[in-house]
Amino acid sequence: MKSTEEIKEIISKLTLEEKASLCSGDTFWFTKAIPDKNVPKIFVSDGPVGLRKQENVEDNLGMNESIKAVCFPAGVGMAATFNKELYGFMGETLGEECRAENVAVILGPAVNIKRSPLCGRNFEYLSEDPFLASEMSTSYIKGVQSKHVGTSIKHFAVNNMETRRFSASSNLSERALREIYLAAFEGPVKNAAPWTVMCSYNKINGEFASQNKKILTDILRDEWGFKGNVVSDWGAVSDRAKALKAGLNLEMPTSYGENDKKLIEAVKKGELDEKVIDENCFSLLKLVYDAYDNIGNSDEFKFDRDLHHNIARDIAAETFVLLKNEGNVLPLSKDLSIAVVGPYAQNPRFQGGGSAHINCHKIESFLDACKENRIEKITYAQGFSPVSDVYDEKLCEEAVNIAKEADVTLIFAGLPDIFESEAYDRKHMQMPSCQLKVINEVCKVAKKSVIALHNGSPIEMPFVDEVDAILECYLGGQAVGGAQYDIIFGDKSPSGKLAETFPLKLEDNPSYLNFPGCRNDVNYAEDIFVGYRYYDKKKMNVLFPFGFGLSYSEFKYDNLKLSKEEINENEELTVTVDITNIGKREAKEAVELYVKNCESDIIRPIREFKGFDKVNLLPGETKTVTFKLNKRSFAYFDERIMDWAVPSGTYEIEIGKSSRDIVLSRKVNITSTPILPDSYDYDTIMQHLLEDKRIEECLGKYINFTKDDREKSDVEKESMNEEMEYSSFLFSPLRSGLYFSAGKIRYKDIDAFLEEANRIISDKKS
Ligand code: BGC
Repeated sequence: MKSTEEIKEIISKLTLEEKASLCSGDTFWFTKAIPDKNVPKIFVSDGPVGLRKQENVEDNLGMNESIKAVCFPAGVGMAATFNKELYGFMGETLGEECRAENVAVILGPAVNIKRSPLCGRNFEYLSEDPFLASEMSTSYIKGVQSKHVGTSIKHFAVNNMETRRFSASSNLSERALREIYLAAFEGPVKNAAPWTVMCSYNKINGEFASQNKKILTDILRDEWGFKGNVVSDWGAVSDRAKALKAGLNLEMPTSYGENDKKLIEAVKKGELDEKVIDENCFSLLKLVYDAYDNIGNSDEFKFDRDLHHNIARDIAAETFVLLKNEGNVLPLSKDLSIAVVGPYAQNPRFQGGGSAHINCHKIESFLDACKENRIEKITYAQGFSPVSDVYDEKLCEEAVNIAKEADVTLIFAGLPDIFESEAYDRKHMQMPSCQLKVINEVCKVAKKSVIALHNGSPIEMPFVDEVDAILECYLGGQAVGGAQYDIIFGDKSPSGKLAETFPLKLEDNPSYLNFPGCRNDVNYAEDIFVGYRYYDKKKMNVLFPFGFGLSYSEFKYDNLKLSKEEINENEELTVTVDITNIGKREAKEAVELYVKNCESDIIRPIREFKGFDKVNLLPGETKTVTFKLNKRSFAYFDERIMDWAVPSGTYEIEIGKSSRDIVLSRKVNITSTPILPDSYDYDTIMQHLLEDKRIEECLGKYINFTKDDREKSDVEKESMNEEMEYSSFLFSPLRSGLYFSAGKIRYKDIDAFLEEANRIISDKKS
């Protein structure tokens, strides 16, 4: 650690060339050192669910070897735990591994919103909902950083597909940007202060994220108060000088001096003030010295990989989502005869491809765990290929034969590695047809069938009615098999819930028409209606809704209480609800809170997810869960004022078992300051004038225009109903008073009103 003065002193002794050189990496993973000027280097590493520390040949797509490490469950599963403490604990565990391996910054968490089920990196990302992504990643960052290791929340921002990821422009409204895409980053930046933020490859509304001043400086630093360093995604820099001015501190990896030269040229040409480079070096060296303190004392942090494997197993069990359990077929009794079908029972698919790919120190399959626990009445057939989509009749026959003989058949199926990875998107949402065929044949003969799924993103499930149970295991990390054992045989109850909607088919997804866009443009035409926000608004059937997940136990929710029934927009609202385990076994349950805006002329989703907590309950036990809601829980982003706003009115606080299963709700009335226009004029409509009580009063003073005073014909009188009359009044511009009042209202009345009304709103604003 060095003081501000010491760092400034060091910078004052560096040449322009040396300072420019610090603005980019030295190698693939190291920052630059200047040993004779006392500047050390630090090592950064992928992440985020295990260490991908490469010591020899380097790459950013996880192809060359990295050190042996522990692979924890992928982001998709971690979000499904709905357990902030658990994700924080995983962060702490990883932080310890980083310390032991002299890693200064781990490159994660990855929090981009799942706009389409097709995005190749969905397995790394957390959710379709920004609140869930934001809360979960806040815990992870706090966990890692509690070990004095930095994080790099990524990919900032609006990077929701892999197709043309280096060039595509994500084009979206300010409202969608703020409410959906930036919100996943905003919470963690404000509440967990990540040491670094990694900017994304793509453009946002036409400007590269790496040189986007609005995103990197105006919003990230000025609005959210970010004090750390922005690191480029690997190779994301286009114009280095522009990027530096926009707020990009560190270019990664090295550009072999080419972009450093560009900075020097820009200074020499007078296009870049050297002070900007000095300030940047100050910011970077603060990070380097701070982190460097830990390097070299890794002995203190020796960790036991086997112990971390067991932690990974415990965590994985909580990531699984039980989607169906007809006749309570799960959990299985250990005495049953069990047919196990599918290669993933033996060689599980437990992680995704690309930069998140870990070189695991060991892998535990379901069959390994069964063997270790002496489950004896087990037969196994591969059934289909784990890597390709070629149907093999012999393999299928073997599977059918063992299924016929067994009490229950477990099928381990899902997506092969090549189906989902960084660098490309999926083309469809289907599982390999060879797997579907085997599932179909096996289900015809099996007495009971259970399917365990290994996939990183939603799939279509044509077998949903054929199987008795579905356990979504996502990509559960290296200990996935042990965790499957724990859940399938009931040592633990499943408690995961979906952090994303499973649509019935790809075409139902709101981004369908605009994914992956056209040439270099992808228009986010669905706007704020991402995931359940869209399916709910359109009242569409889905395969499994956001927030859904079954348990082996049952829970009763009651006693929903609000601290107040009336609040103003700046007051906090405390919500409590009791949850009781009315089943026969200990189990965890995620309690979900949604906010519904009942009456508003603002276009809004039906409900939005605004609170969650996970509780562990013994049979018969009751716990009270408390939520604190604030202005942001009720707000939308208003582009007129470029700020968050809460429309006055009634809101419902809903407690749900999922977004489609609301079990309790209570109303609260919120009063807020209306958003007023800059001024009123002849064309302002009545509805907008009546939004403010004071303007309404003022209107009454000058203009008595409440209905149509014109002489009406009989036909007119007959066809005019109340709603028609009221609406035509409400939507009429002020100037229409001239003729609707049959000459009673004159310009002088309107002018007098406008003068006073405009004075009122300008007084209010100043
Ligand atoms: C990925 C990042 C990763 C980096 C380094 C990039 O291609 O987008 O997520 O951290 O490579 O491997």
